[in-house]
Amino acid sequence: MTRNLLAPLAAPQGALRIAARSLPTTGPWLSLVIPTFKERHNLEPLVEQLTQLLDRRLGGNYELIVVDDDSPDGTWELGLQLTRRYPALRVMRRQAESGLSSAVIRGWQVADGQILGVIDADLQHPPEILLQLLAKMQHGTDLALASRHVEGGGVSEWSLLRRTLSRGAQILGLVVLPEVVGRVSDPMSGYFLVRREAIAGPMLNPRGYKILLEVLGRGHIQHIAEVGYVFQERTVGESKVSWRHYLDYLQHLLRLRLHRRLPKRRLSLPLRRFCQFALVGFSGLLVDYSVFYLLFSQWGVGLTTSNVLSAEVAILNNFLWNDAWTFADLSQRQRGWQCRLQRWLKFNLICLAGLVLNTLIVNLLFNLFGVNAYLAKLVAIALVTLWNFGVNLKLNWRVTNVQK
Ligand code: GDD
Ligand code: MN
Repeated sequence: MTRNLLAPLAAPQGALRIAARSLPTTGPWLSLVIPTFKERHNLEPLVEQLTQLLDRRLGGNYELIVVDDDSPDGTWELGLQLTRRYPALRVMRRQAESGLSSAVIRGWQVADGQILGVIDADLQHPPEILLQLLAKMQHGTDLALASRHVEGGGVSEWSLLRRTLSRGAQILGLVVLPEVVGRVSDPMSGYFLVRREAIAGPMLNPRGYKILLEVLGRGHIQHIAEVGYVFQERTVGESKVSWRHYLDYLQHLLRLRLHRRLPKRRLSLPLRRFCQFALVGFSGLLVDYSVFYLLFSQWGVGLTTSNVLSAEVAILNNFLWNDAWTFADLSQRQRGWQCRLQRWLKFNLICLAGLVLNTLIVNLLFNLFGVNAYLAKLVAIALVTLWNFGVNLKLNWRVTNVQK
């Protein structure tokens, strides 16, 4: 019996990872996790129903993993007793950790199956739907999801408030994370199967209530199938959802948003490069002006000296940004400090020529035409930026330098 009592893998806290399994494996094909907290009265009927279904469909080729957070009603103890009658049942008792999502991930971590799944313990997820989900997985889909919002799906007697909250959460998800939440009709579902390879590898964050978001947001899910189901009313026990879970959900969405960054609309390479170069040039402009202001206006340094010095500091600024960003793809293929130093010297040389040009223009405008010193610099910088971009692209970060 204790053979079936599992301990959570690794130390608690932090992000968790699901290990890949090499094929073919000796373990069961399906590992279905049943997260429980105070579900003593639901566990036995659920395990009985699942066992009947799965024995018929999969023979012995499955395991049921109850992950219980040390429920005060002794759910895990009951589970352990049930393992005598149901050999496919394994039970994890967690004492150092709690929470629905982490329970599911902890269960998957000790699972042996190629197909990982989750189902609520309270019989609100009809067990027979599992057969349809299994069929989808057998047809090679990456994720098979039980949904309340496709044909055949629905909820039982939900109050208007509950429906509104549920839909509101979904809409919020669509706004914050459209490319994840929009992939399924029921992103709140906690009843699904997923292929192990699709989620093995990336760190999964175990906080939050909605494990499906984590799977969709961080896994490599290509093909998704959905099966409609009616969310049943609870007959025994109570829901553990509280207001805190809504805050958790919002935090979860934002965390995934940051993790994934916004989808980029890609510019064509030359145009993108020029925009980056121009942006770097703009940052150089700020640097240039700041230093120039200090030297010329604050400390009374002469016009030409101030101009040369401020431009030189800006050149250094621009080189670093261009090397790490604008021309990153090219500089990455010409690594090493010597190459970098070479580029820096060339950059200086090109800019030195630009500086001569710059000084000439500033002097010409300021002394001859009486243009304001700052405006004169602006014109000079604009012209010299054009010069710098063209020559640097052709001669400095040029692709022909690349060593294969
Ligand atoms: N181990 C563990 N730890 N299990 C938990 C915890 C926890 O902290 N909190 C809840 N559970 C278990 C419950 O015992 C139950 O088996 C399952 O997770 C779902 O919890 P409920 O509290 O019954 O959630 P619900 O019915 O309100 O919410 C469900 O909403 C979705 C549809 O809106 C979710 O759980 C989804 O699975 C479901 O599809
Ligand atoms: Mn429930």
